[in-house]
Amino acid sequence: MNVLVTGGTGYVGSHTVVELQQKGYEVFIIDNLSNSQAVVVDAIEKITGIKPHFSKVDLCNAAALKDFFVRNKIDSIIHFAAFKAVGESVQQPLRYYYNNITSLINLCKCAEEFSVKDFIFSSSCSVYGEPDYVPVDEKHPIKDAQSPYGASKQMSERILSDIAVAGMMQTISLRYFNPSGAHPSVLIGELPVNEPSNLVPVITRTAAGKQKEMVVFGNDYDTPDGTCIRDYIHVKDIAIAHIYALERLKNKKNKAGFEVFNLGTGKGYSVLEVINCFEKVTGKKLNYRIGAKRPGDVSKVFSDCKLSNSVLGWKAELPLEQMLLSAWEWQQKI
Ligand code: WQD
Repeated sequence: MNVLVTGGTGYVGSHTVVELQQKGYEVFIIDNLSNSQAVVVDAIEKITGIKPHFSKVDLCNAAALKDFFVRNKIDSIIHFAAFKAVGESVQQPLRYYYNNITSLINLCKCAEEFSVKDFIFSSSCSVYGEPDYVPVDEKHPIKDAQSPYGASKQMSERILSDIAVAGMMQTISLRYFNPSGAHPSVLIGELPVNEPSNLVPVITRTAAGKQKEMVVFGNDYDTPDGTCIRDYIHVKDIAIAHIYALERLKNKKNKAGFEVFNLGTGKGYSVLEVINCFEKVTGKKLNYRIGAKRPGDVSKVFSDCKLSNSVLGWKAELPLEQMLLSAWEWQQKI
């Protein structure tokens, strides 16, 4: 079965390609390398022994994307390709809306034209905005997103849901909490071309001396230690969830044309707790200071994953210590 993975040289995408290949799927990667590197294709081959098909295509280029579908028979699509930095999206809203929405629409038009019926969408807990309650379940209202990034994910889910109602394609949208860590092989991990803004790579870069210090964005939130709480989940656990979702659609087990599932551990950690855990598991002292709050940040969000556990049959296995240790091992290699 031929699976198209857009954004497949990216962080979650590359880990999902590994899991797909290890399950026997034929994987076709499309990526424009705007925030990832082609060397990831070779790294995937080193892990699985199989080189994924790779095409450097920008999904915003409708003609190039259609040409890809003319040349390759695709059975299912897993769509990762998007800009994803919450803070950056607040500074560059138009760039985020143009890229994330145009890419999706071009991809859906090709799916319709080439009769691809199964679609897995990389969504995010940011669709919940500042949650009314935690842990957050899938029934939580979709509130005003706190950033253009989160809003672009909300719009994308709406587009996919309307497409499902029209009967053109069925979608499972996976709402990730905070993907973290690196593959146990230490051959792939977070390798952004641009400066990372996510907490864990900032921690490992600081520990490696690639940046002098890191800033904790605010310590006067309404949380026990004043710093923001998030649900960090190992990227390998996230990747495995995509296999469960793909097989749910392939085996026609889905109960609706558009389904959503949270992907988290159900446990929230504050920024300071993550820093302390990192120092404990690595023995490295981290140079950080408390700074101003970052626009777009919500104070606390972590998942209720009962639906994913019971209906999808998936559960996160890897603990925070493993995420931080694998991220540190990866950082020392790049
Ligand atoms: C986490 C916490 C920051 C950097 C992420 C992804 C986004 C989406 C949702 C999946 C916040 C604090 C960070 C730093 C800090 N994921 N922080 N100093 O904003 O929750 O969004 O999850 O689709 O793609 O970005 O993650 O890692 O940026 O921030 O204090 O230098 O760490 O304020 O509280 P975020 P993050």
